[in-house]
Amino acid sequence: LVLTSLDPMHYNLTNVVSETLSAVTLPILLLVGFLFLIWTCEATSSVPGPSYCMGLGPLISHGRFIWMGVGSACNYYNKMYGEFTRVWISGEETLIISKSSSISHVMKHGHYASRFGSKFGLKFIGMHENGIIFNNNPALWKEIRPFFTKALSGPGLAQMITICAESTNEHLDQLDELTNELGCINCLNLMRCITLDASNRLFLGIPLDEKPIVLKIQNYFDAWQALLLKPDIFFKLSCLYKKHEKSVKDLKTTIEVLIEQKRQKLSTVEKLEEHVDFTSQLIFAQNRGELTGENVNQCVLEMLIAAPDTLSVTLFFMLVLITEHPQVEEKMMEEIQAVVGDRNIQSDDIPKLKVTENFILESMRYQPVVDLVMRKALQDDVIDGYSVKKGTNIILNIGRMHKLEFFPKPNEFSLDNFEKSVPHRYFQPFGFGPRGCAGKFISMVMMKAILVTLLKRCNIQSIKGNGLNNIPKNNDLSLHPNERQSVLDMIFTPRTKMNEIAGGAPGHLII
Ligand code: HEM
Repeated sequence: LVLTSLDPMHYNLTNVVSETLSAVTLPILLLVGFLFLIWTCEATSSVPGPSYCMGLGPLISHGRFIWMGVGSACNYYNKMYGEFTRVWISGEETLIISKSSSISHVMKHGHYASRFGSKFGLKFIGMHENGIIFNNNPALWKEIRPFFTKALSGPGLAQMITICAESTNEHLDQLDELTNELGCINCLNLMRCITLDASNRLFLGIPLDEKPIVLKIQNYFDAWQALLLKPDIFFKLSCLYKKHEKSVKDLKTTIEVLIEQKRQKLSTVEKLEEHVDFTSQLIFAQNRGELTGENVNQCVLEMLIAAPDTLSVTLFFMLVLITEHPQVEEKMMEEIQAVVGDRNIQSDDIPKLKVTENFILESMRYQPVVDLVMRKALQDDVIDGYSVKKGTNIILNIGRMHKLEFFPKPNEFSLDNFEKSVPHRYFQPFGFGPRGCAGKFISMVMMKAILVTLLKRCNIQSIKGNGLNNIPKNNDLSLHPNERQSVLDMIFTPRTKMNEIAGGAPGHLII
């Protein structure tokens, strides 16, 4: 055999060598290529974070986001690797930042004026290239944003003070509708109804039944949170998202019907200029061919859910904090009595309510509703010495930043934290810059108006044992305390006269 194989007539030596070589070199080349890939992947980012580890790192980090929830996963990674860290979501490099200088840099610059999120997820809930909040098409977003900024500032902002005071008073007059069989009020739902009513009065102007819509908004929000960062494969199995499909459809249909009613109304009114509001401006833009019907519907939906999703929960947290800090309540009541007295709150009062303002700010710092902001880098950049590539996802962990830097009592609820004026960069509950919260100023006005009107009329007590510590933290984009009914129940005692507060208990009436 040896002789035969060595016989050049039988076997061509060059062929043997080349075949053996190709059989060996191919796996070696593949291995070298693979190792090079791992090495380059590990070396691409100088930012501290978990190791790539042959692709296991991205799998583990996305898994952690799904398993722990976005908020807890971000805090975990910031604690573990520092305040500027790199992980992966859907295999894409994602920075989690809780350092004020870096957060300011991102918020300030136009090349971070985009967000990230699962394209399928956003399509599913109607936000992909529609509406404003998660519209990731910069050109389309730029066209939409002015409709929101216009409606949320100027005369609208001033009108909102009266609207909020009226709406709060009307809801307090009909509290029995929100009172359960034990005589307690689901305070969070009350806040949701007031904020939805106020938003409707200013932005849409069509009579609606708040309670069922508030429920639909909650379900829509749950779908949004659940689907925002899901991997694409999730959307291949309809059984996984069926529940959310219904929630999204329910709210969208309701809003479509309301917009249709608005169209009808606009076509019959005599003086069109008396009915110019956010929704009518959008409808006019659609009539001019500037916006699609789908986009108009999504914009109205987002404008109507913005306050019931964020502001109502913030107000609810404030009421819980009031029950836990009677001395703070006393200070606020003194101020309210001095500035507003027995009449309704009006626009001149707003800048004079300093204690109330500090209470609102400290509540948002201590117990935030929105603690994460999602952005995307639209060009290469360097942030605090770290190079950031175009397309990098960014999560700004503002909730953590508010407890790390500047404040004298970071882990306590104390008005001392706002005693000195706080430099802009250390406190950003609404974000800022081109993609900051469009409702930032109107929110402050709404919170003051609702809080003052409510405190003037009611003394609030929580059911024994309830407090912020008992509220389940869903650890996602926001706290969403809708699980344990008992935590939300509160007793409102009417304050018939301001001086009764000082004089003691004004005869408890459980509403
Ligand atoms: C306490 C209440 C609220 C808080 C804490 C809050 C917070 C935020 C935050 C952190 C953002 C992201 C900002 C960024 O990316 O830098 C945002 C976006 C936004 N907020 Fe608010 N918000 C509140 C109430 C409202 C209200 C009442 C409205 C309107 C009625 C509103 C409208 C918007 C809109 C339209 C955006 C998206 C802006 C864009 O992407 O261009 N917000 N909000």
